[in-house]
Amino acid sequence: MRAVVIREFGSPEGLEVVDLPVPVPAPGQVRITTEAIGVGGVDAVIRRGTLAAYGFRAGHLLGSEVAGSVTAVGEGVDASWTGRRVWAFTGLSGGYAEQAVASVADILPLPDGLTGADAVTLGGSGVVAHFALDRARLAPGEAVLVRGAAGSIGITAVQLAVRGGAGAVAVTTSSPERGARLRELGATHVLDRSGAGGPDTPSGFDVVLDVVAGPQLPLFLDMLNPNGRYMALGVVGGPPPADFGTRLTAAFRKSLSFTTLSSDTVPASAQQTVRSSQFTDAAHGTLRTVVHEVLPLDQAARAHREMDAGRVFGRVVLVP
Ligand SMILES: NC(=O)c1ccc[n+]([C@@H]2O[C@H](COP(=O)([O-])OP(=O)(O)OC[C@H]3O[C@@H](n4cnc5c(N)ncnc54)[C@H](OP(=O)(O)O)[C@@H]3O)[C@@H](O)[C@H]2O)c1
Repeated sequence: MRAVVIREFGSPEGLEVVDLPVPVPAPGQVRITTEAIGVGGVDAVIRRGTLAAYGFRAGHLLGSEVAGSVTAVGEGVDASWTGRRVWAFTGLSGGYAEQAVASVADILPLPDGLTGADAVTLGGSGVVAHFALDRARLAPGEAVLVRGAAGSIGITAVQLAVRGGAGAVAVTTSSPERGARLRELGATHVLDRSGAGGPDTPSGFDVVLDVVAGPQLPLFLDMLNPNGRYMALGVVGGPPPADFGTRLTAAFRKSLSFTTLSSDTVPASAQQTVRSSQFTDAAHGTLRTVVHEVLPLDQAARAHREMDAGRVFGRVVLVP
């Protein structure tokens, strides 16, 4: 089967299309013939080598989520899965391929009316947005800022914050055009990447959801209201400065909270319940997914160049 691996960490040119043996589902797994493959921000972070400390090696097969049809089941898996269209989480590898394997606990049937492209745009990121707002205890009337809102996590978070009755839903983004698109999804205030906005920008936020981190993270900590909650969800801008905690303690009298959230710590069953409900909403059009572009699997490097150039709004999807 064709697959895309990291030959060399760094630029998108380090991605290579290779032939690999078709994977055999282990006990408890299924094999899926892919019809859509999500290209996530985490793939770019792994490819750049930002997560080198986690032991990724050359030859790593990228990709965390796919949609397609179950074509084989491993020992102990109900054979009735065969032939069903599903979304699947493949972990931190295995998705950029014509065939992928996943644990049966990490697959979910696709409802009628949901395309594979929509499923891989929403499947992994939607639950992060949901549990981030849930753990931040966003209350009706509160002001939330979504930093890095133009990605799949942010796009869902904006819509869920509106649905949850937030008093203000501010976003950071890199251009007025992208800001206008986020307003269409429910954002009420648009800030630039440094956090500067118009005169009506709220003076502070009760919740900040941040997929960016990077050197500017402390600026956004300073924007929290007393009792504010900061949810660090990703590192698309790199790691935060090592001493950012001093900013938190300097603001001791504001009683701020700083929390990281990885969906790895959310029980799989809770994720599946939320994902299933989000898939139904997306199939009915009450939760919007944004597919930036659909490209052939062979053009994974182009997808990564688009991400690195900051041209992606939503998610790029690969098709084998
Ligand atoms: N917490 C979890 O469980 C979990 C799960 C999956 C993924 N993740 C993490 O979430 C991140 C990916 O999320 P995503 O796919 O929604 O994001 P994304 O699409 O990769 O990026 C979101 C937006 O961030 C902005 N951005 C990019 N680089 C930036 C920079 N240097 N400074 C400021 N803004 C920048 C861009 O928008 P503008 O150009 O409009 O500013 C971009 O569209 C990764 O770090 C991944 O590891 C976390």
